[in-house]
Amino acid sequence: MNIAQDPVIYTDETVFLKDYQKPTFLVNSVYLDIQVYDDHTIVDAVLDMKRQTSGNLVLLGRDIELKEVQLNDQVLSAEQYQLDAEQLVILNAPEHAIIKTKSIIHPESNTMLEGLYQAGDIYVTQNEAEGFRKITFYPDRPDVLSVFTTRVEANKKFPVLLANGNLLETGQAGDDRHYAIWEDPTKKPSYLFACVIGDLAVLKDSYVTSEGREVALEIYAEDKDIPKCHIAMEALKHSMRWDEEHYGLPYDLDNYMIVAVSQFNMGAMENKGLNIFNTSCVLADEAYTTDDAIMRVQAVIAHEYFHNWTGNRITCRDWFQLCLKEGLTVFRDQSFSEDLQSAAVQRIDDVSVLKAHQFPEDAGPLSHPPRPDHFVEINNFYTMTVYEKGAEINRMMANLLGKEKYRQGTDEYFRRHDGQAVTVEDWVYALSAGSGIDLSAFLLWYSQPGTPSLVAEGQYDQATESYRLTFKQRLKAHPKYPNLKPVPIPIALALFHPNTGEQYPLNSTALVSNQPDGVYLFDQEEAVIEFTGLTEQPVVSLLRNFSAPVNLEFDYSDEDLAFLIQHETNGFNQWQATQTLLERILLKDHVADIYIQALTHALPQLIQKDPLLASRLLDVPSESYLASRIDHNYQPFTVFEKREALLNALAQHLGGFWKETYHALNPALQTEFSQAKGERALQNIMLSFMARQGDADVFTLAEQQFYQNKNMTQRVGALKVLVWNDAPIAKQALQDFYDQFKDEALSLDLWFMLQAAHPQATRETIQALTEHPDYDLGTPNRIRSVLGGLNSHPVHTWDFGVQHVIDLAIYLDQKNPILGARLLQVLSRWYTLAEPKRSEVKDVLLALQGQVKSKNVVETLTSMLSA
Ligand code: TRP
Ligand code: ZN
Repeated sequence: MNIAQDPVIYTDETVFLKDYQKPTFLVNSVYLDIQVYDDHTIVDAVLDMKRQTSGNLVLLGRDIELKEVQLNDQVLSAEQYQLDAEQLVILNAPEHAIIKTKSIIHPESNTMLEGLYQAGDIYVTQNEAEGFRKITFYPDRPDVLSVFTTRVEANKKFPVLLANGNLLETGQAGDDRHYAIWEDPTKKPSYLFACVIGDLAVLKDSYVTSEGREVALEIYAEDKDIPKCHIAMEALKHSMRWDEEHYGLPYDLDNYMIVAVSQFNMGAMENKGLNIFNTSCVLADEAYTTDDAIMRVQAVIAHEYFHNWTGNRITCRDWFQLCLKEGLTVFRDQSFSEDLQSAAVQRIDDVSVLKAHQFPEDAGPLSHPPRPDHFVEINNFYTMTVYEKGAEINRMMANLLGKEKYRQGTDEYFRRHDGQAVTVEDWVYALSAGSGIDLSAFLLWYSQPGTPSLVAEGQYDQATESYRLTFKQRLKAHPKYPNLKPVPIPIALALFHPNTGEQYPLNSTALVSNQPDGVYLFDQEEAVIEFTGLTEQPVVSLLRNFSAPVNLEFDYSDEDLAFLIQHETNGFNQWQATQTLLERILLKDHVADIYIQALTHALPQLIQKDPLLASRLLDVPSESYLASRIDHNYQPFTVFEKREALLNALAQHLGGFWKETYHALNPALQTEFSQAKGERALQNIMLSFMARQGDADVFTLAEQQFYQNKNMTQRVGALKVLVWNDAPIAKQALQDFYDQFKDEALSLDLWFMLQAAHPQATRETIQALTEHPDYDLGTPNRIRSVLGGLNSHPVHTWDFGVQHVIDLAIYLDQKNPILGARLLQVLSRWYTLAEPKRSEVKDVLLALQGQVKSKNVVETLTSMLSA
């Protein structure tokens, strides 16, 4: 099929960037009164609105029962407005309109986790992107900014009543009810509105900003979870300091609240002054959660805090600009995390995510530019491309400017646009103006889909002692984006002396002059650059630190890669060399010997110096990553077998190394988190290799590690080895884990995940887990733990996993379509499968079409089927 010739069809529900129009009315102020009762909630709203352009006064509203509407104190009769399932139109509205509405909503039966919903004992809101219109009638779009005052009233069994801003007043509302009034002085779009009503405990602290403002910090959670909030609190203070030091941005209110909820669709939400978090992104305690989860908590705390400036004070003009706030904020949280652990490892982890998830997304039917130009359901665009590729674009620009100029650029952005709703252009122009360097060519990155291929060739000339590099870039045609142009690709590089392993000084006029290391800015379709003064043919290392989000095609020899594993001083490229070599072994049948030798040389030293980086050098690309590199005729079982063979070879060839290293390490003696984490990661890797070797002591060691440690990373690592290898004690250990953690949802998620990820899991394994009394379709974390575990084996995904995903999609289509659409994407690479599997899965997806209704799931399914 020639996709380029297919007509591109849009449905009438599609929204286009090019159709953007200014709002007809602005809102000067909003007063909300939310009264929660067990079987309904009353919402009274007063909107002070002012006309800006001609047209109707339109208020968006969905699933709300409208009781009464007034315009300038007159109750409107049915002829004076129009109401349908999506909006309330006030006919003939004057210049200045005070709209009062009274309406009824049902948070107690809202399963979509959007708008106001009840989750266990608490009521919370989630309004990004378009949830506010499920609370009250409102011009629910990000370019309408207003000042919010909120009164919340509820039964006293809910002692905590929170909303954005400062607490103005509290009081009684009858015998068993009470209220609180909050006022948020900063203008904000409705998607940042939040309120919380519940029975929660709180951890308090405080922070003094660079401007001398004392800020009360509060983290709300269930009573038993308060001890697990300290890491988040420290991370919050650290983030506040970090943003002052790196961006000159202090916090602007007198309080900052975070609320932890166990039923939440994503990680967390940056509501102004009142963040709401998935418990998985706040609660952190080494006895209950893993090292990876602890890192994630710190990153998400920073992410949401950083949104206060990049997202909240400066927000998006429309939802097409989503990557303006997300791409920039992810780049900021990644930079923050580079201070928490070895920067090379942080970069490795971020690029691993990008390559394992964003690259495949961008190579398949769901591909879209970081700033899409049309969508049906915006919730389907909270994607890897918007977040992670968006972050990479900012990183490229920041690196190119260098620290000082980048700061001048961001200063200019905050100076120009504070308090505004802006576009990606506004950001890039402000960065350019502030730094004095024109970055407008980078706008192409935002508007074009697909991962560019960077094709490079090197040629050494002994006579002139010179080395030439030829670069070409290729962009894959996309039916909806026909005229792709070459993008600016910063290529960081180094040349190494082949014998000494030392870096050559770089002699070339082509390099960007303000960079201490070699960077070439490649912005043509093709270019050649030359280096001189090279006495021997150099070993080149390209795209150091992953300087651009591209697919590099360069004909390294296996020996060059082995050389880089040993000599590259950039930790990221050292890791990349292992991955490139492994990918060849796994997908192109290269022999493993060179890799094993290089590893044997590099590892022992590195384990001493940087155990965490050492653990990453032992990464073997996952089956799903390998699958993402195969575009047709993908046979899951073949990939599985090859990977197993390699792992077995590694297990055998390194002989006693695994056990010796296991015993040589002692994470308990490491005081520094990153070091301890590295040692724990290594010990877990060692255990699994010993299991592969069939080592006689492995179960004893795993049992000791499981029962003698209180650290969750160690316990789960050991439990995996016991369970996945069906050790005699496996059942007992699982039961003991369950008994100990049955009331700890996040720990129990690990228990579910680990069993779903059993290498010999079957349809029955999954069925037993989903029928377990602790399995809960109302809690996305639990659904994801089973699906995530299952998915760690693509052989299972494409076997019994397909039906599991389809069942979830059908159920969630009605109950929680945001989540349903996301989970369905697990099957998005169906078209790469070898026949007959490909047709089988396609038929299942076609059959699903008639069974789903939500915009979310329908749009995702339609795109998936367009492959
Ligand atoms: N803006 C949030 C973030 O980046 C993410 C988000 C968007 C979200 N929509 C959501 C979170 C719905 C929870 C539910 O941090
Ligand atoms: Zn975000």
